[in-house]
Formats: sequence, C-alpha cells, structure tokens
Amino acid sequence: MTRPTGALELMNDLGEAAAIASTRPVHMLGGGNPARIPAVEAVYRRRLAEIGANDAEFGRFAASYSAPAGDAGFRAAVAELLEREYGWPLASHNVALTAGSQTAFFALFNLLAGERDGREASRILLPLAPEYIGYADLGLSDDQLVSRRARIEDSGDGFFKYRPDFDALEGIDRVAALCVSRPTNPTGNVLTLDELRRLDAMAQRRGVPLIVDAAYGLPFPGLQYSDAGCLWNENIILCLSLSKLGLPGTRTGIVVAHEDIVEAVTAFNATAALAPASTGAVITEPLLRSGELLDLCRTTIRPYYQGRCREAVEELRAALGDLPMSIHQPEGAFFLWLWFPGLPITSHQLYLRLKKRGVFVLSGHHFFPGLDEHWPHAHECLRINYSQARDSLRAGIAAVAEEVRRAFQEG
Ligand SMILES: Cc1ncc(COP(=O)(O)O)c(C=O)c1O
Repeated sequence: MTRPTGALELMNDLGEAAAIASTRPVHMLGGGNPARIPAVEAVYRRRLAEIGANDAEFGRFAASYSAPAGDAGFRAAVAELLEREYGWPLASHNVALTAGSQTAFFALFNLLAGERDGREASRILLPLAPEYIGYADLGLSDDQLVSRRARIEDSGDGFFKYRPDFDALEGIDRVAALCVSRPTNPTGNVLTLDELRRLDAMAQRRGVPLIVDAAYGLPFPGLQYSDAGCLWNENIILCLSLSKLGLPGTRTGIVVAHEDIVEAVTAFNATAALAPASTGAVITEPLLRSGELLDLCRTTIRPYYQGRCREAVEELRAALGDLPMSIHQPEGAFFLWLWFPGLPITSHQLYLRLKKRGVFVLSGHHFFPGLDEHWPHAHECLRINYSQARDSLRAGIAAVAEEVRRAFQEG
C-alpha cells in the first residue's frame, strides 16, 4: 500500500495542482474529477436543503450508521430502477454500497483472487489493455492481475479503436474473475454488447464472474455516446458509482450482483469500515425513484460531455493536426486517449515536461496493469480529461502541442 503507484501519482497530482493553483496558472487535464455542471448541482443543492429541513432524512444522511450493506431505501431504489429500465430481476439483496466503487474493486479483487492455502495467486483477467489505472496495485498478493494487449483497429480520419483479442484470452491459467471498465477509462472505448456477451460467455465457461465497471456508463451517469446498452445476469458483478454524476466527494459505490457476492461485500464493509457513507444515497434516492436523475443524465449530463468532447477533438486537431497523432474513438466517459506513433520520448517524460509547465495529464504507461510484456505503444499515449474549464483545457492542449512538437523536432 505504500509503493509508488499510478493511482497515488494521480491523486497526489490533484492535491498538488490545487495547492499551486494559488501561485501560478495550473491546467488540470489529469485526474478523474467530473465537471461541475450548474444545472446538475442545482438539483443536489435543492436536495441538501430538503434534507436539512427533514429530521428523518437528516438522520439517515449524517446522524446514524447505515447497515453494512448501505442505506436500505437507496438499495431498494437502485434495484427497482434497474428492474424498471432493463427488466433485470433484482431486489435489495442484490445491491451493496461501498466507499466509492474503488473500494468495491479492492474488496472484490481480494475476495475473488489472490493466494489461498499456500497456492500460487489466482488472478483477475483484464481482457484488454489499456485499462483503468486504479485496478493496478489493489491485490494483496503480488501478480494478481493479468491482461492482454488490445487489438488496434484504424477507424480512419485520425481515429482508432481498441478491440479485445479473443484468441489471446484462451488458455490463460489461474483466472478467478474477468473485469472490464465500460466505458473504458482511459480510452473512452465502449465495448459492444456483442463483445460483452462474448466475455460473459467466456467467464461462464471458466466458472468465474465477469465484473463490469460502469462508473461512467448506464444507467447513470450514462456517458455512453454509442448507445450500446448494458448487461446483467447472476454471473455479472455490475459496479456503479455516483462519482461521475458530480458527487465524488460522497464516496458512493454500488455493487449489483448475486446475493452471495453482496453478502461478501457487506461483510468486508463491516470489517473495514463498519458501514459505507449514506450521504450520496440520501441525496439521490428520491431522484432515482422519480426518474429525475435519469432525465438529468439524458438531457443535461450526457449532452454536456458530448459537446465538450467535440470541442476538445477540434482543439486537438487544430493544435496538433500536422503531427503524428491518432485519437481513440471517443464513445464514452470524459477522456481523450491520444496516441503519438513514433514519439521520440516516453509518455512519462512528456508528462514530466508538461507538469513543469503546470499542465497535468496522465502518462499512458500507467494504464497497462497486468501486462507483463514490453509494448512500445504503452509509452506513446496520453490521457486527457476534457471536463474542466474551457480556457484551461485550451491552454493545456496548446502546451501539449508545443511539447509534442518539440519532442518530434528533437527526434
Ligand atoms: C473506470 C473507473 N472505475 C472506478 C472508478 C472509481 O470511482 P469511485 O471510487 O469514485 O466510484 C473510477 C474513478 O475515476 C474509474 O475511472
């Protein structure tokens, strides 16, 4: 837990950027903070006023521990929403809350995989790298992740798309579960429903669960621009979060799974944290029940990010169009994944040069957890978060363009 990790670097950068912002301009294109959208915050502020005025709600919000599975009313509301929207046969016993979905991954990866009875560690298979930085280093045993390179498909027009290499996934041993983020952080990829079904079938053949991390996906915040639907069955552990709705400070993760898994996560909560926080749950429960939250996702949150995404792509094309750059098809989430084929310096060096200028991005090499082969591609990519203030994004992109140009000129 004290090793240098990508997640630590990322979270430290968030803190550092905030600290130096008072002395010089800082452009935060790193980190995973969602945008602050006034129309969305207005709804949360209204809910906070309602909670303040309601003794029972205030009690649940702040004045009592919830059950270790999380606030009961909210868990029921989540199950009902998923049943209403997708017809999945769920009840409260299929839902547990955690302190952010990050904590759910810590619990799940260690509940499902790792060393047992002196045997070599079983592993979580990440079917395609690049994948979410936060999965690295969660295992209490070494060697708890295994992944395979994605196939790169050139989509033309300066875009590309990663696809799972299903052949490469055969024959991997000691697999305790599969896990994918969908939409994917860092790339904005949305696996098609067909790809997801094939991964689910693969997991079922192996007799292990498939973890689907929908922190950015459906039903909320619903940042899936390619509208590829979603999937659940008793073999799927669906992990949701309130963070990307604009409530990361409430640390609310939601695990939707077979009740055996929910019981295990509940036991983990009781031991590690007594109970998860209820603040996010109490703010959003009536919004889930009335349909207001999903309306907000469809009419405000998703269009907001889609618009920002289009602008960011245009800015990048204008600033770097003459340099070797390909952008992953932005199909979801709020990141752009930039690939500079043949970049003469590593993406980490590029990150350091930008950081010196007060521009924070993420170096691509962090996003290959579990991949134990050398892949030059991993050192040619950057992730930028396009959700923050427009001026800052523009200035950050200009700096990226200057540094990439300099790197290619230095050769
Ligand atoms: C793909 C993905 N999953 C999970 C998380 C964890 O989010 P939280 O713990 O805030 O729910 C993040 C955060 O950035 C993420 O990008």
